[in-house]
Amino acid sequence: MSVSSTAQANLPAGLSAVLGVLSSSAVVIDSDDRVLQASEAAREVGLVKDDDLIVGELLALARQVRRDGEIREGEIEISASGLAGRTTSFAVRVAPLGSEVGGGGLVLLLVEDQTERRRVEEVRRDFVANTSHELKTPVGALALLAETIEDAADDPEAVRRFAGRMRQEANRLTNLVQDMITLSRIQAAEPMPDPARVELDSVVAEALDRGRMKATARGIELAYTGTRRLAVLGDEELLVTALRNLLDNAVAYSPEKTRVLVSTCLDGNMVELSVADQGIGIPERDLERIFERFYRVDPARSRVTGGTGLGLAIVKHVTAAHGGKVTVTSKEGAGSTFTLRLPVRPGVPS
Ligand SMILES: Nc1ncnc2c1ncn2[C@@H]1O[C@H](COP(=O)(O)OP(=O)(O)OP(=O)(O)O)[C@@H](O)[C@H]1O
Ligand SMILES: [Mg+2]
Repeated sequence: MSVSSTAQANLPAGLSAVLGVLSSSAVVIDSDDRVLQASEAAREVGLVKDDDLIVGELLALARQVRRDGEIREGEIEISASGLAGRTTSFAVRVAPLGSEVGGGGLVLLLVEDQTERRRVEEVRRDFVANTSHELKTPVGALALLAETIEDAADDPEAVRRFAGRMRQEANRLTNLVQDMITLSRIQAAEPMPDPARVELDSVVAEALDRGRMKATARGIELAYTGTRRLAVLGDEELLVTALRNLLDNAVAYSPEKTRVLVSTCLDGNMVELSVADQGIGIPERDLERIFERFYRVDPARSRVTGGTGLGLAIVKHVTAAHGGKVTVTSKEGAGSTFTLRLPVRPGVPS
């Protein structure tokens, strides 16, 4: 808490200590609008400079409160001209200090930056909106197919065909829900509850095992090379899920009779796990967006492959939960390489 040169004797006893423990920005101004006391936060965000409250809206609010003694609350947007840099949204609470109305003329302002809360809310709202949209498609298809089957009750061949399509849509729905559960499980589990030593060899073996059938069906060879016996600290099941998503993509977005190569290596105290394919590649402009939820380079193609667009979001969150990073390099028509960089058994002396 920094104190202005103005006599601090005007401040009610103990106030300074109280303001010092508040996490929000706190400012006390006197009857001449001069700042008697301002928390570090208030100065850092740029509400106060020297002895002045430099945001006009806040000053106007403080004067109203001084005049009628009423506590006021609200949200204000302060733009770049008021603050250095960006537009920021603040929750404000302004109250008179002292007993008599208009008495000492002291006014207390509590100001809380709402930017982060707003951002989190926005992300959540987007996710709910996207999710409902993604759920509607297969559910709508199921309803239509059921109707069609009713109408075709006398045609066993048609019934069989539409029932098959229903099964496909139901599978899609199951995958989507499963992916959403995985994503929220990872996000809820930050930091990871009880990380264990995980051998990369078994992660790779497990993921290759689960991915082999799809690959073989398309004549794609899965191979594994690199440093063995590497270990990280984390959750084996989550790492298998991440690697499986990368393998699924490598196979799904590659032409038949190509090769997918998983490799591992040690780089300083980071472990690298890569999946390289000889597939269709990803256009440069999409590279930074593919890790977003529900983002697909070609939504029409994904509809055919049954993709939900959550796979890489899962990969990103799993990697982050392990203190690592995921990167991608790609060339259209030539192939893509996704690399997970994870700390070697972090926190455990080797
Ligand atoms: N190895 C790859 N080669 C080419 N494009 C890829 C590759 N991996 C991902 N992509 C692109 O990135 C998009 C997002 O991938 P992501 O795994 O998140 O979703 P998806 O594969 O469409 O669906 P799912 O959630 O079922 O995995 C894909 O739709 C695809 O366009
Ligand atoms: Mg995928």
